[in-house]
Amino acid sequence: MKKIAIINGPNLNLLGTREPDKYGNETLAEIEARLSALAAGLGGECTFFQSNVEGELVTAIQQAGESDGIVLNAGAYTHYSVAIRDAISAVPAPVIEVHLSNVSAREEFRHTSVIAPVCCGLIAGFGSESYLLALRYFCPDNDHGDN
Ligand code: DQA
Repeated sequence: MKKIAIINGPNLNLLGTREPDKYGNETLAEIEARLSALAAGLGGECTFFQSNVEGELVTAIQQAGESDGIVLNAGAYTHYSVAIRDAISAVPAPVIEVHLSNVSAREEFRHTSVIAPVCCGLIAGFGSESYLLALRYFCPDNDHGDN
């Protein structure tokens, strides 16, 4: 069974009420429930962690370091946290960077990701589906052996 860690950074605990025009109406708990259901159908299992604190995210990445994959929405830390980048580099688990919004179509400061170069891929702009697409990569249903 594939073990996938879903890690969310600052302000993502406010999903549902936070700028719904940008991030949608679903709560983080609702997204997590959809991820659990999808994982179960694909023979995988998700764990969930959210924090507004940079160091706690570093620790969560370290603790998930032996999992089969990490789906990480680092929120604003994406754009400047060298500590989170170093944590990703330090662990064997492959990490997919995800964003609900299309960060490339937003303010200039969101166009830079300091974590992208050390992630295995990046999915942005598909709302909560960004997380589900990342999970599908880690738990393929056709066993084509790409990962
Ligand atoms: C975000 C994009 C970031 O720029 C922003 O700081 C967030 C959310 C997204 O999911 O679209 O907190 O990561």
